[in-house]
Amino acid sequence: MNTKRFVGSLLVLLIMGRTVMTINWTVVNNPVIFGRDVILRCHVGNIDCNVSGTAHDTRQWTGGQHYKLLCATEGCTDPKYKMMTRNTSHDFDLLIQSFSESDLDCKYTCQCGHEVNTTTLSVEQNKLISFPTEINTDNSYIMSGNELQIEVSLEKVNPIPICKTLYKDKVLAEANVTKLKSYRYFTDVNVSFTFPLQEFGCSGSLQIICSLLSYNITIYDENIHTCHKYDSLFHLHIPLVTACSVFLLAIFGIVYIIKRRHSNQHFDKLQQQHEEG
Ligand SMILES: *[C@@H]1O[C@H](CO)[C@@H](O)[C@H](O)[C@H]1NC(C)=O
Ligand SMILES: *[C@@H]1O[C@H](CO)[C@@H](O)[C@H](O)[C@H]1NC(C)=O
Ligand SMILES: *[C@@H]1O[C@H](CO)[C@@H](O)[C@H](O)[C@H]1NC(C)=O
Ligand SMILES: *[C@@H]1O[C@H](CO)[C@@H](O)[C@H](O)[C@H]1NC(C)=O
Ligand SMILES: *[C@@H]1O[C@H](CO)[C@@H](O)[C@H](O)[C@H]1NC(C)=O
Ligand SMILES: *[C@@H]1O[C@H](CO)[C@@H](O)[C@H](O)[C@H]1NC(C)=O
Ligand SMILES: *[C@@H]1O[C@H](CO)[C@@H](O)[C@H](O)[C@H]1NC(C)=O
Repeated sequence: MNTKRFVGSLLVLLIMGRTVMTINWTVVNNPVIFGRDVILRCHVGNIDCNVSGTAHDTRQWTGGQHYKLLCATEGCTDPKYKMMTRNTSHDFDLLIQSFSESDLDCKYTCQCGHEVNTTTLSVEQNKLISFPTEINTDNSYIMSGNELQIEVSLEKVNPIPICKTLYKDKVLAEANVTKLKSYRYFTDVNVSFTFPLQEFGCSGSLQIICSLLSYNITIYDENIHTCHKYDSLFHLHIPLVTACSVFLLAIFGIVYIIKRRHSNQHFDKLQQQHEEG
């Protein structure tokens, strides 16, 4: 037998064994949501991390922004992290609380016995949700002619939302979404909608609902009174007309009384003259 071949196949076997034995870790959550918990799972397969068969357990997580020990069986160095083990599997997890962009693009290592795997934590942008940190509806209500323009700005949102406008719980149309500013993992956007006043009733609930992957968020929910202008004018008319009528009636009354008195006096005078004459 060719010794070169033998060594070659032995090497291949060794490498294959090595790759089979290698552990790895993956992100459990899909989508990953900023501000929520995120779990990294160390897949160890059939490897028992309790290698020495003593009370000492070798499972641990290292990593994060400053690449330091995060958790071992004894506990975690930072309350942000938790290590979770299960009795049904040798796999074990690292729970990262209130996940943020600073937790991304860092190296994380999971260790089990002599096996380690270090990988950089990255999440594809289409598997990442950032709910807007701020929803600004100030000056959102612009009346011009017979149109009402609603404008809502969202800060640090991902992905670019798809927004719908609902009037009295019925979908009207898609709102316009424009990018204002882009960051690494999120974008500031402007959601605007032009509402033709005359096509709909005077008042009702107007909502703008945006979808971010599998989540829907309401960014605008107001009871609008589009006929307010006409309404108030109409309401103003009634007391105005009443007041004018009362005023005119009063004047007529006064004039009538004065006239009567005047003619009475005149008559008296005439009578007096008659009597004298
Ligand atoms: C860690 O795991 C990843 C994913 O399975 C793999 O691509 C990588 O080669 C592993 N790294 C090491 C050092 O074993
Ligand atoms: C990670 O390890 C598990 C168990 O060893 C294996 O089944 C899986 O294919 C590995 N995944 C990757 C991406 O290497
Ligand atoms: C490790 O194995 C030993 C012996 O089987 C056992 O007594 C010990 O409780 C194990 N440790 C852990 C953390 O499971
Ligand atoms: C795992 O542990 C929990 C309690 O920690 C127990 O209720 C459950 O029955 C265990 N499952 C197995 C398969 O041992
Ligand atoms: C938002 O979009 C609307 C319509 O595209 C535009 O009129 C408005 O100026 C934008 N607002 C900002 C703050 O860019
Ligand atoms: C979206 O913007 C376009 C162009 O600015 C405009 O014609 C359209 O009416 C807008 N749609 C809505 C629902 O506001
Ligand atoms: C989000 O809204 C869409 C319609 O716009 C609907 O089909 C979907 O079921 C909603 N999803 C959730 C989780 O409410």
